Amino acid sequence: MKETVVVTGASRGIGRALAVEFAARGHPLVLAARSRSDVQGTQVECDLSTPEGREKLLAVSPQKIGGLVNNAGFATAGPFAEQDRWKERDMVRLNVEAVVDLCHLFLPRLGEGSFIINLASTAGFQPVPLFATYSATKAFVLSLSEALAEELAPRGIHVMALCPGVTESGFQKEANVALTPGYATSDEVAAYALKALDARKRVAIHGTKNALLIFSQRLSPRIATVKVARKIMQPWFKNRR
Ligand SMILES: NC(=O)c1ccc[n+]([C@@H]2O[C@H](COP(=O)([O-])OP(=O)(O)OC[C@H]3O[C@@H](n4cnc5c(N)ncnc54)[C@H](OP(=O)(O)O)[C@@H]3O)[C@@H](O)[C@H]2O)c1
Repeated sequence: MKETVVVTGASRGIGRALAVEFAARGHPLVLAARSRSDVQGTQVECDLSTPEGREKLLAVSPQKIGGLVNNAGFATAGPFAEQDRWKERDMVRLNVEAVVDLCHLFLPRLGEGSFIINLASTAGFQPVPLFATYSATKAFVLSLSEALAEELAPRGIHVMALCPGVTESGFQKEANVALTPGYATSDEVAAYALKALDARKRVAIHGTKNALLIFSQRLSPRIATVKVARKIMQPWFKNRR
C-alpha cells in the first residue's frame, strides 16, 4: 500500500493536476482547499491562510504520510500602491505563513523516502514589478525550500521547489489579469513535477525557455533583470478586465 500524499489547493489548477498524477501512481490522497476537489480522496474544506484551517487539515491526515504538496496560493497584480491592504496580507499568510507552518506541522509525519513539494514560481527568481508582493512570496518559498532540502536530506526527506512559468489555471482570474493562449497547462506542469521528483531535483523549473531565462539572469545586473521583468509583465495589463 502506497503512502498518503497531502495536496493543498487541490480543487483546481496545478494542485488538482498534481492530485490526479499522484492518484494515478496509487497514492491515497488528502485534498485541501476552501472548496471540494473532483479528484477522489479525503476532502478537507479549510482556509489554509488561518492556523485553524491548517490544524483542521492536520487533524484529518494520517499519522504517517509519504508526501506534502504545498500548492495553495494566489497572486494580486498591478501597482503595489493600488492593492487592497488586506488582500496583500492574506496572500502573505497563504503563500508564506501557511507553507512554513504546514512544513513544520507535517514534518514529524514524514519518514525516510518521503517528500515535500513547495510551489514556488519563476517569479521567485527576481523581483517582479506589478507583481511585487507575489514575487516576494515566491522568493521566500524558493529560499525556504532549498534550505530545507539540505537540512532534511540526511533524514531521507526530499524537498523540491516546483517553479512553473505562466500556466493556464484559475490563477489569472484570481489575479484579474488576462492571458493570451499558448502557455503551459496545469497537466503539463504536474507531469513534469513528478518526473522532476523522481529525478530528485531540488529546484524544478518547468519549460526550457523559462530555465534559460533564469540562467541568463545570473550574469545580468539585478537592476536590468528587474526592468526586463517589468517589460514581460506589462502586456498582462493591456487586457485587464
Ligand atoms: N498559474 C500560474 O501561472 C502559476 C505560475 C507559477 C506558480 N504558480 C503557483 O501554483 C500554485 C497553484 O496555483 P494555480 O495556478 O493552480 O491557481 P488556481 O487554479 O487559482 O488554484 C489555486 C488553488 O489554491 C486554493 N486556495 C486558494 N486560497 C486558498 C485558501 N485560503 N485556503 C485553501 N486553499 C486555497 C484554491 O482553492 P479554493 O479557491 O477552493 O480555496 C485552488 O485549489 C500557487 O501557489 C501559485 O502561486 C502558478
